[in-house]
Amino acid sequence: MTPQPPATDAAVSTAGVELHYGATPVLKGIDISLVRGKTLALLGPSGCGKTTLLRLIAGLLAPTRGSVSIAGQVVADAATGAFAPPEKRNLGMVFQDYALWPHLTVGGNVSFPLEMRRLGKAERQSRTMRALERVGLAAYADRRPSDLSGGQQQRVAIARAIVAEPQLILFDEPLSNLDRELRENMVGELAELIATLGLTAIYVTHDHSEALTLADDVAVMRGGLIEQLASPDELIERPATPEVADFLRLGGIADLEHRDGLWVFKGSDVALLRGSGHVGATARVLIPVASITPGEISPGRLAATVLRSQFRGDGHLATVSLVGPADIELQVLSHTKLRPGEGIGLSIDPKRIRWFGTQVHSSKEESLEHA
Ligand SMILES: Nc1ncnc2c1ncn2[C@@H]1O[C@H](COP(=O)(O)OP(=O)(O)O)[C@@H](O)[C@H]1O
Ligand SMILES: [Mg+2]
Repeated sequence: MTPQPPATDAAVSTAGVELHYGATPVLKGIDISLVRGKTLALLGPSGCGKTTLLRLIAGLLAPTRGSVSIAGQVVADAATGAFAPPEKRNLGMVFQDYALWPHLTVGGNVSFPLEMRRLGKAERQSRTMRALERVGLAAYADRRPSDLSGGQQQRVAIARAIVAEPQLILFDEPLSNLDRELRENMVGELAELIATLGLTAIYVTHDHSEALTLADDVAVMRGGLIEQLASPDELIERPATPEVADFLRLGGIADLEHRDGLWVFKGSDVALLRGSGHVGATARVLIPVASITPGEISPGRLAATVLRSQFRGDGHLATVSLVGPADIELQVLSHTKLRPGEGIGLSIDPKRIRWFGTQVHSSKEESLEHA
């Protein structure tokens, strides 16, 4: 008996979705579920399968295994061969390259999905103007896309995606062609637009700050799999794996080993903290930015050398290298500017260290400074 896709009232869901290109598995079993009115980000490095998953949901690809449902309807199921084409899925799409038609005016571009739906001219005009107003471009309806800036062109693409009031909007790295300042502004604008219009959206990005800003839930992807699907708060507080923590730039990852009542950095004599553990036990930990207080070099503090530092708006975020253990880089937030090559001391709050895998720490843990 073939397993039936679960009945669901989710706006979108996938069950056991796999996709192979020839013999190469690109998606290896994807289960997501998104509630109406929420935004899900697919976050991960280039090549991890984000666009492929979006194309499966859009109906531009069919799954090798598993099923996709939209608004409770199965739109693709590899087991039965059921497949609804994109135009039957009631979605809007926004891509990285805007994909505007250069020979049409801005208004013509935005009204195109309505023409496909054979709406009358008056209805098309009023809906087009409403969509352009929503993205702040009502005055540009008669211009050509080429007269507009990159940011404005992307707003036109967003207006086109929302004009037919689809049940779901798919964004594929929509801001990655914009320069940094514009991108940062547009992330906020887009989040606001999604919230005011009550859109259900899937948003693909490789940029962790975009994902954490925009989305209610974030699926962190790696190598065709979802490593963790959780809210931004949960991801930051409890990253499931070192890879997730690293990708979200939550701090430094270090391997420790237990020796003489101390957790020392693997292959060194430098101790991170006191604590219980089996002799020879090893652990992988995240040392979050928020766990570290920089100061003068002193006994009981970890010695580090500043590699580079960047002003971040609320302080200087420095990348430092520990003196002693090989290849341990940590991020430190400092009120004062730290210069490359400068030596500093680090106090680390052991309670904020995140232990992966087996829970090896205990309440006896103490920082070296206060021990
Ligand atoms: N049409 C295709 N044929 C073969 N391999 C493909 C095709 N499209 C994408 N891939 C491969 O699938 C993997 C995932 O691609 P993609 O979904 O575009 O990743 P992302 O959007 O996360 O960067 C990559 O290794 C890519 O090379
Ligand atoms: Mg992509």
